[in-house]
Amino acid sequence: MTKKLLFILMLGASLVSCSKKQDATESKIDELISKMTLTEKIGQMNQLTGEGASANMKDQIRAGVVGSILNEVDANTINELQRVAVEESRLGIPLIFARDVIHGFKTIFPIPLGQAATWNPELAEQGARIAAQEASSVGIRWTFAPMVDVSRDPRWGRIAESCGEDPYLTSVMGVAMVKGFQGDNLADSNSIAACAKHFAGYGASESGKDYNTTWIPETQLRDVYLPSFHAVADAGVATFMCSFNDINGIPSSGNKHLNKDILRNEWKWDGVLVSDWGSIDQMISHGVCANSEDAAIMAVDAGVDADMMGFVYIKNLEKLVKEGKVDEKLIDNAVRNILRLKFRLGLFENPYVKDTSKVAFYASGSLNAARQAAEESAVLLKNNNVLPISTKTVKSIAVVGPMSDAPADQLGTWVFDAEPSHSVTPLQAIRQDYGSKFNILAEKGLLYSRDTNSKGIARAVQVAEKADIVLFFAGEEAILSGEAHCRADISLPGAQTEMLRELKKTGKPVVTVLMTGRPNTISEEVEKSDAFIYAFQGGTMAGPALADLLFGNAVPSGKLPVTIPRMVGQVPVYYAHKMTGRPASNIVMINDIPVGAFQTSLGNTSYHLDAGDSPLFPFGYGLSYTTFSYSPVHLSATSMDQNGKIMAECKVTNTGKYDAREVIQLYIRDKVATLAQPVRELKGFKKIMLKAGESQTISFEINACELGFWHQDNTYSVEPGEFQVWISKDSQSGEPVSFYLK
Ligand code: BGC
Repeated sequence: MTKKLLFILMLGASLVSCSKKQDATESKIDELISKMTLTEKIGQMNQLTGEGASANMKDQIRAGVVGSILNEVDANTINELQRVAVEESRLGIPLIFARDVIHGFKTIFPIPLGQAATWNPELAEQGARIAAQEASSVGIRWTFAPMVDVSRDPRWGRIAESCGEDPYLTSVMGVAMVKGFQGDNLADSNSIAACAKHFAGYGASESGKDYNTTWIPETQLRDVYLPSFHAVADAGVATFMCSFNDINGIPSSGNKHLNKDILRNEWKWDGVLVSDWGSIDQMISHGVCANSEDAAIMAVDAGVDADMMGFVYIKNLEKLVKEGKVDEKLIDNAVRNILRLKFRLGLFENPYVKDTSKVAFYASGSLNAARQAAEESAVLLKNNNVLPISTKTVKSIAVVGPMSDAPADQLGTWVFDAEPSHSVTPLQAIRQDYGSKFNILAEKGLLYSRDTNSKGIARAVQVAEKADIVLFFAGEEAILSGEAHCRADISLPGAQTEMLRELKKTGKPVVTVLMTGRPNTISEEVEKSDAFIYAFQGGTMAGPALADLLFGNAVPSGKLPVTIPRMVGQVPVYYAHKMTGRPASNIVMINDIPVGAFQTSLGNTSYHLDAGDSPLFPFGYGLSYTTFSYSPVHLSATSMDQNGKIMAECKVTNTGKYDAREVIQLYIRDKVATLAQPVRELKGFKKIMLKAGESQTISFEINACELGFWHQDNTYSVEPGEFQVWISKDSQSGEPVSFYLK
């Protein structure tokens, strides 16, 4: 028997056994449902927040009216509540314990936006795996992550939790996180169910204000906001969460088109769809439901399986079924999904946290991985030969700025279980790892990012005057991004810019390291700095990672996952925009317009008089201590048919003196289409390590079927014509070559 045949037979056998297992689970679910009372069924759909092992909670569990609990993180309490469910409720159905484990449980990785800046899905997977191991050790088996909302609005506080502006990058990173959380098998005791949130369009909230309304045409929804959700659904994400926003007037918790037509019928997904916190009830506030009964009907009809802290299902569904206003089959379907998840998690066999003594928080391997992620998430935006810092030219270093020693703030948003006492700050790391070689002078100046204390600035300036180089750690406190923490002004808070101006006046070289939760407007700060690192909030190990980068023990390799605007008024500003009929040309800035100029004298093209037509830094941008050259792109063919594929190749050479990683990016443009298409779209990327002087030929496979877009008649298809291809270091550089699709 050939190896291939053996493989096919084995695959066939494993598929048969897999589907048998599935059938067996489905039969168990049906059997259980047949024994359940209506109250018990609705109970499974009820998700409550923890309140310890209170008598009230135990009574509800015993009565079978709770299906899952969020925010309980004490292993003994979890075991006790589970014992009540398994031993004292009529049917012994186990609970699931859930928690927002977003970028770490104890060992905190960079905020997701920072993880996206690594363009390294392996690191994101590793981060999620470590988070799952730590969280599951106390009994958490469901996390509400990853957030795969595409966001093009830096005002929105939740951009921190996103993977940025691009559907492809978000899909790749999202899938990696799902794999990390869920592991090889959901039933393993250290696997936790992931949750794709927030379905959908949440990142498009008007004016970047949280929970706000969105207006998204179906074609844009499908081309931009849904691909990352589709990707994680295909990758087997166990759960989805509804978003708070309405799309075109319909809140997601009542959106049948999203939750049934697309998620269930088109994507054939069979996991649990949970509402967001109180989002079913909030349909009353949205103005689409008159009361809580209406909201229950609308949500259950739209296929929302579980009601997170809304009490809408538990209060209303039983009555509504009895009155014939809700079909019990809808409830059975929801319960089926929930029980399926409990079976998949192995909770019927292993409901308890077994050995709480084996908990390994902050294991050295986990800290190393977090450090690597923090290192690769930092993006070098500017370097006038001051980095890396060398003992040849520098003897004493001033470490200043509000983020230089801010253990809690460097962790970023959504770190409910983190302990800042475990954070290693830049100041601590610099002192510890480089203090023997350099004289380290420290003075925060501003105590926190919003601080405006001019005396503090003066103290930092005094310290800067005594040093050979100044390291200015600026940024945003963790509280300034995340849920419900949106800003209309995205410049650096407090007197940080003023502090930089004063530091600059000392004449000493100033390196700014920005530890932040969103894209900030930083034109002046970049201009005034001799080097600039955009670091995001890097988590527990941000300090050592940044120190290694500053002193050359590591080389920056992060690339922006999101555009950095010059001014907030440019928002939304993103690389994959469409071309206008009058693309910008001959840009005349506001102060260059002659007084009394004639109305049409500027040429009438598309730009802002005060910001021009470019962002400060484009998506995909990031420098290194070395340089890379890219050869012209070579295509394996100049045309292909609708089922074809073409290889695109480019030789990348490390032309500098440092061994370093580079992210090679593939962009494509559909030149002429029935609907105007983006000027470029990311379709692939590879992160590689190149030694100084080394070259590597990088190839990408371009499949015709991936070059389509959604049309107004709700079909996806690829149109014939010219396509341009770039292989480049960011979304604005490189020379395109073309092929034709027949
Ligand atoms: C957030 C979700 C989160 C949930 C549970 C909501 O307010 O929007 O992202 O998972 O709370 O904490």
